[in-house]
Amino acid sequence: MAASMFLVLDFCLKRTNLHSLKAIFFIPITLALFTTSCVLFYISSTSNSLLVYSSQNHVVHLKHSTNGVVFSASISTPQNQEFSNLSTRGPFSNSSEPHSSSTFGFPNPVEFQKVSHAALASDLGNTRPSSGNYVNNEVFHDRDIFMENYKAMNKSLKIYVYSHRRDHPFANILLPVDFEPGGNYASESYFKKVLMSSHFVTKDPSRADLFFLPFSIARLRHDPRVGIHGIQDFIRNYIFNISHEYPYWNRTGGADHFYVACHSVGRFAMEKVIEVKFNAIQVVCSSSYYLSAYVPHKDASLPQIWPRGGDHPDFASYERKMLVFFAGSLNSPVRQRLFQAWGNDTEISVQTGQLKRPYTEELLDSKFCLHVKGFEVNTARIGDALYYGCVPVIIANHYDLPFADILNWKSFSVVVATLDIPLLKKILQAISSDEYLMLKNNVFTVRQHFQWHLFPVDYDAFYMVMHELWQRRSSLRVLGDFQ
Ligand SMILES: *[C@@H]1O[C@H](CO)[C@@H](O)[C@H](O)[C@H]1NC(C)=O
Ligand SMILES: *[C@@H]1O[C@H](CO)[C@@H](O)[C@H](O)[C@H]1NC(C)=O
Ligand SMILES: *[C@@H]1O[C@H](CO)[C@@H](O)[C@H](O)[C@H]1NC(C)=O
Ligand SMILES: *[C@@H]1O[C@H](CO)[C@@H](O)[C@H](O)[C@H]1NC(C)=O
Ligand SMILES: *[C@@H]1O[C@H](CO)[C@@H](O)[C@H](O)[C@H]1NC(C)=O
Ligand SMILES: *[C@@H]1O[C@H](CO)[C@@H](O)[C@H](O)[C@H]1NC(C)=O
Repeated sequence: MAASMFLVLDFCLKRTNLHSLKAIFFIPITLALFTTSCVLFYISSTSNSLLVYSSQNHVVHLKHSTNGVVFSASISTPQNQEFSNLSTRGPFSNSSEPHSSSTFGFPNPVEFQKVSHAALASDLGNTRPSSGNYVNNEVFHDRDIFMENYKAMNKSLKIYVYSHRRDHPFANILLPVDFEPGGNYASESYFKKVLMSSHFVTKDPSRADLFFLPFSIARLRHDPRVGIHGIQDFIRNYIFNISHEYPYWNRTGGADHFYVACHSVGRFAMEKVIEVKFNAIQVVCSSSYYLSAYVPHKDASLPQIWPRGGDHPDFASYERKMLVFFAGSLNSPVRQRLFQAWGNDTEISVQTGQLKRPYTEELLDSKFCLHVKGFEVNTARIGDALYYGCVPVIIANHYDLPFADILNWKSFSVVVATLDIPLLKKILQAISSDEYLMLKNNVFTVRQHFQWHLFPVDYDAFYMVMHELWQRRSSLRVLGDFQ
């Protein structure tokens, strides 16, 4: 605990330039009081951003841990209790943006304030002319800040990957796959494969900002030696191994470590090593504010993308005659509600069995494509809709949408609360053709961020995930090194 307090104190001192008061360190009670007031001072000195966040139903988590002692503070306001009802009402209610603005595990205060002021400005409609229900048509909350951070990320971010030999008994789990990933959980394999051959990897742990835990949850699930029921033990053993073989995990209790998982069984995977859940950065597809396994702002949302091969289809030959399209099984109350409300509609096509036309034709011939929560908030449907130029309509309360700290989802999608399913048609019909055109053009603009490439292309899904990691890199370990 003392070490932890020292770090916090040191952190405060650095923030407030009160180096001369370091002597106080030797008087424990004064230290405790000072630490507290220092934290409070830090909070009040950034209260602008915190206020902005709370007014948008955001929670700010401050977290640090050493040797298993976790220091953590959650700053929230009473409004957060209403979060569940406000979170995904979308652009057609009076609530502010559901997923706007930037959030960082431990922000650089300058970035933090700049972004939050930008978010505030756009929410108030100060910076851009408003168009109907949409206050801000820009696909980025703040393009300049994004570009600045992106450049810094591309130049400086270094990742240390725990290395394993080809003859390791679990090489199939720990090493990248030697084929091009496909299917529903491709994001997980793609990320690892691309990372391993990227310029972000360093063999020198002292230069690393972050440490990558390379296990694949999706592959553990299919390994007969492990299976769904063995995943928790595997992860526990893995963390035990690396924390005994290397010094890095213990230094921060895992706070500068991350893993990437797309399969939803990942949400139970960390139960036997609570530090992974509470300290490490979890980059996961099942990113719901409602899941206890997911800590918004610390963790990051990974887009679930089913890689669609080949060239983009010829969009011009489709008139998008159908208003809305959805296909999927009725495996959740939300989907059942959708089916009850719109199962027989002529403009809203809700298909639950064999499709009448190929899936891609349906996506190409509809104005809007529904993403509706099933077992989980995430599916590959948003990626599919974007790929085929269909404006996504998202009905998945509490979904922490991918890259929501950078991308303005209101500019290229429509978020509808589950409660508003009966109003779905009214909501979509209220969108003017100008607004629809704006949404659709923005779909084409953001599509690049939702695509994987074996050889990454700037601003594609891989680089976007790297940017999310860059925002979340821990500054505490760096401070530790300066002592
Ligand atoms: C949220 O909505 C539920 C169901 O509509 C309602 O029972 C509850 O009181 C609401 N909570 C708040 C804080 O408004
Ligand atoms: C939204 O705000 C307007 C003006 O303040 C008000 O008339 C309307 O009832 C509100 N709508 C909802 C759904 O709260
Ligand atoms: C990012 O880094 C790669 C590899 O060094 C480089 O090819 C690319 O141009 C960089 N992108 C930007 C936007 O700086
Ligand atoms: C942990 O290390 C032991 C001993 O080297 C090894 O047998 C085991 O496979 C390792 N487990 C994991 C999950 O890495
Ligand atoms: C990390 O901490 C664990 C538990 O306290 C300890 O058993 C282990 O030896 C430490 N690892 C290293 C490399 O010191
Ligand atoms: C659709 O219409 C058929 C025939 O009128 C009816 O039996 C069925 O219950 C309706 N389904 C829904 C989901 O409303």
